[in-house]
Amino acid sequence: MATTLWPAATITLLLLLLCSSIPNSESQQEYVNNKQLNCHQNDTNSTNGNLCNSVSSCTSYLTFKSSVPDYTTPVSIGYLLNSTAADIASANNITDVQSIAVDTLITVPVTCSCSGPYYQHNASYKIKALGETYFGIANNTYQSLTTCQALMAQNTYGERDLVAGLNIHVPLRCACPTRNQSEAGFKYLLTYLVSRGESISSIAEIFGVDRQSILEANQLSDTSVIFYFTPISVPLKTEPPTNIQRAAAPPDSSPPPPAVAVAGDSNSSKKWVIVGIVVGVVVLLLVCAALFFFCFYRRRLVQPPSPTPVAKAFSGSTTTEVTIPTTQSWSLSSEGVRYAIESLSVYKFEELQKATGFFSEENKIKGSVYRASFKGDYAAVKILKGDVSGEINILKRINHFNIIRLSGFCVHKGDTYLVYEFAENDSLEDWLHSGTKKYENSVSLSWVQRVHIAHDVADALNYLHNYTSPPHVHKNLKSGNVLLDGNFRAKVSNFGLARTVEGEGDDGGFQLTRHVVGTQGYMPPEYIENGLITPKIDVFALGVVLLELLSGREAVGRDKNGSGEQMLSVTVNQVLEGENVREKLRGFMDPNLRDEYPLELAYSMAELAKRCVARDLNSRPQISEVLMTLSKIQSSTLDWDPSDELERSRSVSQISDSR
Ligand SMILES: *[C@@H]1O[C@H](CO)[C@@H](O)[C@H](O)[C@H]1NC(C)=O
Ligand SMILES: *[C@@H]1O[C@H](CO)[C@@H](O)[C@H](O)[C@H]1NC(C)=O
Ligand SMILES: *[C@@H]1O[C@H](CO)[C@@H](O)[C@H](O)[C@H]1NC(C)=O
Ligand SMILES: *[C@@H]1O[C@H](CO)[C@@H](O)[C@H](O)[C@H]1NC(C)=O
Ligand SMILES: *[C@@H]1O[C@H](CO)[C@@H](O)[C@H](O)[C@H]1NC(C)=O
Ligand SMILES: *[C@@H]1O[C@H](CO)[C@@H](O)[C@H](O)[C@H]1NC(C)=O
Ligand SMILES: *[C@@H]1O[C@H](CO)[C@@H](O)[C@H](O)[C@H]1NC(C)=O
Repeated sequence: MATTLWPAATITLLLLLLCSSIPNSESQQEYVNNKQLNCHQNDTNSTNGNLCNSVSSCTSYLTFKSSVPDYTTPVSIGYLLNSTAADIASANNITDVQSIAVDTLITVPVTCSCSGPYYQHNASYKIKALGETYFGIANNTYQSLTTCQALMAQNTYGERDLVAGLNIHVPLRCACPTRNQSEAGFKYLLTYLVSRGESISSIAEIFGVDRQSILEANQLSDTSVIFYFTPISVPLKTEPPTNIQRAAAPPDSSPPPPAVAVAGDSNSSKKWVIVGIVVGVVVLLLVCAALFFFCFYRRRLVQPPSPTPVAKAFSGSTTTEVTIPTTQSWSLSSEGVRYAIESLSVYKFEELQKATGFFSEENKIKGSVYRASFKGDYAAVKILKGDVSGEINILKRINHFNIIRLSGFCVHKGDTYLVYEFAENDSLEDWLHSGTKKYENSVSLSWVQRVHIAHDVADALNYLHNYTSPPHVHKNLKSGNVLLDGNFRAKVSNFGLARTVEGEGDDGGFQLTRHVVGTQGYMPPEYIENGLITPKIDVFALGVVLLELLSGREAVGRDKNGSGEQMLSVTVNQVLEGENVREKLRGFMDPNLRDEYPLELAYSMAELAKRCVARDLNSRPQISEVLMTLSKIQSSTLDWDPSDELERSRSVSQISDSR
């Protein structure tokens, strides 16, 4: 018995060992995801090629769209892609001298083999004219069958050395079926160019394969977004059809335009449109947009017109009292929308120059932030040095009414230009503090507006802490980073220091940093002293912002005697402790409110702020609790009638402090 068992066990063991020693044999290829647009950023697993993860050589197919003037025959295309005219002709059921109608998608059989870590099919290209760039060759000539990153990695010439007549090596993206795919019956992988109006489903239909297999082949999930003019791998069980019928491009009502361009050339003015994987996402987006405009339009009807951005100076006589709908109707944070907005526009530098009047002084908002006008729509353009992919990556995934929306970006000569939604009324700091007061002679923020702003900011933080995955901490909340739109709704901005935190709450997974950065007056003690990063950093900073809203004072102010510095987070304790709390609070409140505020609610807000700025982080409330308390204050504020206040204030001052 034992003798017969031994060999069996050994074989099993050997088999197991054999299987586990084939590295990565099961992993699929990673979708390039528009990263090919930024030539100076390489992500070696996706931009530079498909990883060589199974057989070392196979037959594969590329797709290519015939284009005038140069590539309209099997011969010329074969020459460009290093395939033979005869092979191309037979794969497409045409003769090899036939000229192909413009924009016909043809399939090109090639040999795909491992070269170093990547699968590729080698071709070579002779530079035709001075001024060609790696990006132009990859995107325009080779129709994204290669990437500028791959070209740069495999050619020794610098961008400026590309002169006419030079031959460059062109690695074309291809792949061979993985073991999993072979087992499932797939024989070939075809590199397909996504074009306008197409989705994974429509591509699956063209080739008669199921959608899931395409998703898997590209490591995509159901909710991922694919971009037009990026290559995608399609696994095939048989040779591709000889006559590819693309899905018709939808009319122009489809998703927003250009996901085009980094500094590079673009001969074609054709605009391509982002293709959502899930048609539903598009529909959802449209519905949400419709909803948004509907709400917006209604608001417009109800309210007095807000100051236009051009005539920004706020005239003293304008009433700033506005009715503001509840936040709930604005928080379009559904999963689908969040993914849909992952697609940011990539602007051309020239577009930005034009929109900002060549970054003119007159369009300067503050620091390196400029106002831009795109066909009459305003946006803010912020110039940042170096790599700001952190901020882009956070903002592109976030969609909340109270968080400034990033609409696109541009990388030019090492600087990044971020294009944001425009906040007409600058920052909260500008409105509150005399030192920075642009609005010195204008009406100050009313109590109602201040409560809404507080609630908005808490809403944004609550979203960051509890509704993003993984949770995020803003880490740099301050009145200067709270922007106000035309209706004085708050938009939290500046995510340069934001980061994710795993393990949220009081006990789980702390993160420590030695690199303590932030703004004095807003940073909690445990962060300054120990570099401890938790969501309570934001709660503390929010407490300070609440105190600024109440008092109109700066986070770090001068002492009464004008000498030492006084932290608002410390001052509040002196105000709210001991005798005559309400009297002291009255003295603390912003004189610009001119007693037009409900003292009881101000007291509740001050109490809340005091808890937020507690020294011990465990005594600070969670942001969800802060938001709830502010919601109550907000709804009580809406019931409050300012004309009662004078009377009430007289009686209140006579009531002794009960709390
Ligand atoms: C390969 O196939 C197996 C079984 O179908 C599946 O469990 C596994 O997740 C697949 N591997 C990859 C990388 O898709
Ligand atoms: C690239 O792939 C390898 C192997 O699959 C993996 O170990 C590595 O973490 C990946 N790198 C990136 C940046 O994704
Ligand atoms: C190829 O084209 C010819 C005529 O151009 C047609 O008769 C034939 O059916 C086509 N074959 C396939 C497989 O489409
Ligand atoms: C493709 O080109 C690379 C880089 O020049 C080279 O290492 C590789 O051997 C080539 N592959 C084939 C099949 O010629
Ligand atoms: C063309 O492809 C073949 C393999 O099919 C390869 O051996 C050859 O080196 C390639 N030619 C160029 C110029 O890269
Ligand atoms: C990726 O980029 C870095 C810096 O830009 C460069 O040093 C590195 O060689 C690149 N890697 C590849 C594989 O191209
Ligand atoms: C990439 O190529 C396509 C097709 O030629 C073109 O429409 C698009 O504008 C190009 N992108 C850039 C940035 O040039």
